[in-house]
Amino acid sequence: MSKLETVLLTGGAGYIGTHTAVEFLNAGVNVVIADDYSNSSPKAIERLEQLTGKQVVKYGVNMCDKAAVRRIFEENRLDAIVHFAGYKAVGESKALPIQYYRNNVDSALVVCELMQEFGVNQLVFSSSATVYGDSQNVPFEEDEPTSCTNPYGWTKLTIERILTDFVEANKEKTDVNKDVFINDLSVTLLRYFNPIGAHASGLIGEDPRGPANNLMPHVARVAVGVNDHLNVFGNDYPTKDGTCVRDYIHVVDLAKGHLLACQKATPGLHTYNLGTGKGYSVLEVVETFERVNGIRIPYVFAARRPGDVPESYANPARANKELGWRAEHSLEDMCRDVYNWQKNNPQGYGD
Ligand code: WQD
Repeated sequence: MSKLETVLLTGGAGYIGTHTAVEFLNAGVNVVIADDYSNSSPKAIERLEQLTGKQVVKYGVNMCDKAAVRRIFEENRLDAIVHFAGYKAVGESKALPIQYYRNNVDSALVVCELMQEFGVNQLVFSSSATVYGDSQNVPFEEDEPTSCTNPYGWTKLTIERILTDFVEANKEKTDVNKDVFINDLSVTLLRYFNPIGAHASGLIGEDPRGPANNLMPHVARVAVGVNDHLNVFGNDYPTKDGTCVRDYIHVVDLAKGHLLACQKATPGLHTYNLGTGKGYSVLEVVETFERVNGIRIPYVFAARRPGDVPESYANPARANKELGWRAEHSLEDMCRDVYNWQKNNPQGYGD
């Protein structure tokens, strides 16, 4: 593949995007960020610049706006794209499926079309363990059959499908595809498990707009007194303590997975689980958070949340072997870093 000098991070002002930008910048790669700030803050980019002492090139664009995105390709010589931009709330996707499909699928198509137009041959896509649906065949391996239980998940799986066809069509140049053919096209699908944690500096972290959907932002808001207790959804699952088990992964480990995926890219389609391989229950997360931070997290048991599977955790062996990637942070690290971020920024980026 060509030398990795400049990468475009779509959705680069978001939670995973900012942490990934830090890893690329620290590795000496130039970063271009495209973000419409619909679920993120421009301040997050200022923070990551402060943290790394480096500048990024920023575009406040919506990724479905092809003319605006084309300018990014015209103005920068991109070697690779990491496509994070997308809507990501499971519950909201059930109420707004058309908006989810339009936004998530359209933005991915815009990226593919511009890769064809400009001959950019490297893409990493932000996928999710949600593509394993309600399977209980844990730990999940990448060739586990895929399916989904909500429109958000289906947008991820649909984009995986599109990218699979994209790679297939670029294996051979023919009379039919010669005008859009991409030489040595490399696409990597990264299936994230449950990203939590924050950069150890406390300068960047997760800042969900409006009500939080996921476990850790709820725990963090209780920890700093924004909310008075946590609801634990279900305590009668067939798991070690009756609460659901997930594979929580430190966002910095996840971010490093993107850098390695770009550095080690080879032509073709590659799919990797990014998880630790260890499952922790909701109560174990709460207990760990309390222990490492010396703080109480009051909780009550509430009804099961529809769509939750009892257990989800990765077999990360393929990413270990092929990318040389391994999650290095413990659940203790994740809980400590979340609290550090939330204490320093009780209102997130504050805008
Ligand atoms: C974890 C556990 C909850 C909140 C989701 C998406 C997935 C991915 C990541 C991203 C579950 C319990 C939660 C609370 C609780 N998508 N919980 N009280 O559901 O594994 O994955 O986020 O963009 O596609 O499905 O993560 O953090 O929401 O929940 O008890 O207030 O915490 O029931 O058992 P999940 P989560």
